[in-house]
Amino acid sequence: MSSKEYVFITGGGSGIGRAFALHFAGLGYGVAVADLKAQAAEETAQQIRAAGGEGLAFGLDVSDPVATQRVAAQVLETFGQMDVVFANAGVLSPADYFEVQPTDWDLSLDVNVKGVEYTCRAFIPGMIERRKGRILTTASYNGFRAGAHVIPYRVTKAAVVMYTRCLALLLAEYGITVNAICPGVTLTPMQLEYAEKTASERGISREAYLDERAARIPMHELTTVADLNALAEFLASPGARIITGQAIAVDGGVLVSS
Ligand SMILES: NC(=O)c1ccc[n+]([C@@H]2O[C@H](COP(=O)([O-])OP(=O)(O)OC[C@H]3O[C@@H](n4cnc5c(N)ncnc54)[C@H](O)[C@@H]3O)[C@@H](O)[C@H]2O)c1
Repeated sequence: MSSKEYVFITGGGSGIGRAFALHFAGLGYGVAVADLKAQAAEETAQQIRAAGGEGLAFGLDVSDPVATQRVAAQVLETFGQMDVVFANAGVLSPADYFEVQPTDWDLSLDVNVKGVEYTCRAFIPGMIERRKGRILTTASYNGFRAGAHVIPYRVTKAAVVMYTRCLALLLAEYGITVNAICPGVTLTPMQLEYAEKTASERGISREAYLDERAARIPMHELTTVADLNALAEFLASPGARIITGQAIAVDGGVLVSS
């Protein structure tokens, strides 16, 4: 980086978002961390500051457009600019279709789709003004794979892919890129909780269940947060200046296997 750059990350209090925040702070970015769990966001920012970086924390529900605008305004006032926005916060839905309630659909749509839109929208005017910016969204390999489980989740992640493509076209003329990162199975609190529940329903250990899942992956390995950080770093770098509207799977080959 020739001069200091800044990132904003949602869902930065846990899993993929926290790992991204710490990684980008290590690269020298100033990092604003937002999470529904304010304390978790603060812990990430504290870790950044303890390592000598610049970290801000915000408690934020991304499904609230007014609050998201307010937080973005505070971030822009403090940092003066925003270079990379990572709309990453997301929620899983019940696995069993027959357990899904209308409120589960509402939550999935509100956080996974509208929350991504509100996050991006809050920073787009500033990026257009500077004719500079990188936007990343977190979709999922499940946004491409039909399945009988976690249906609201799959549907909303497919929507994130289409949203990412549309936004890429909207912002192309300003030199702003928009790309989706599509993680495969990544051992974060969200995934571990899902694995725990599914394994116990099947009467097997969590480790046995995760081994089974890894065995079904062509490369026989789960995705790590380091794998996702490597892609995010590249997409934010000058080398990716002309890559936009892409949804890139980091999944050990699952999506290309039949
Ligand atoms: N872990 C995986 O295997 C996997 C695979 C594909 C996609 N993803 C996606 O990656 C993203 C990050 O998930 P993760 O695995 O790190 O999960 P995680 O549960 O560890 O972290 C998600 C974070 O988002 C926050 N969050 C939830 N609702 C929010 C809201 N309304 N406003 C602000 N923050 C909110 C949570 O508090 C949590 O800190 C999600 O979009 C998820 O769907 C994860």
